[in-house]
Amino acid sequence: MSSSKVLVLHGPNLNLLGTRQPEIYGHETLNDINNRLYEKAAMNGWDIRCQQSNHEGELIDAIHAARTDGTVLIVINPAAYSHTSVAILDALNAFDGKVVEVHLSNIHKREAFRHHSYVSLRADGIIAGLGSRGYLLALDALL
Ligand code: DQA
Repeated sequence: MSSSKVLVLHGPNLNLLGTRQPEIYGHETLNDINNRLYEKAAMNGWDIRCQQSNHEGELIDAIHAARTDGTVLIVINPAAYSHTSVAILDALNAFDGKVVEVHLSNIHKREAFRHHSYVSLRADGIIAGLGSRGYLLALDALL
């Protein structure tokens, strides 16, 4: 049996994790987070790829690629694009697998403009406010 294929997408500014507003986003770097995801995936025999981009179109291209490469789950933190991007929503709507949206912070406890996410209209599950643990929990969608 082939292993489940997962794409983890991190949106804009998440490359700065560790030094970007650590009081909100924590002290872990994106590499720390990705390494824990790779570890959990290896333990479960899942095939995982983690990708970060500051560019909307690159995130969309990655979602398009996932439509045809056997990906069964996209875990996405669209970051600020959550609140603005109909284009990312449209791309996810064209993907047949499961989608879990993750936010490090609880967006509903923050400024009003963060309370709405276009991606939530497509997400099968949403995890917000649990810090980096949210990404690890999101992988449980495969179980
Ligand atoms: C975020 C929340 C967004 O509002 C913000 O723009 C981010 C990160 C989070 O993980 O809490 O960049 O998605």
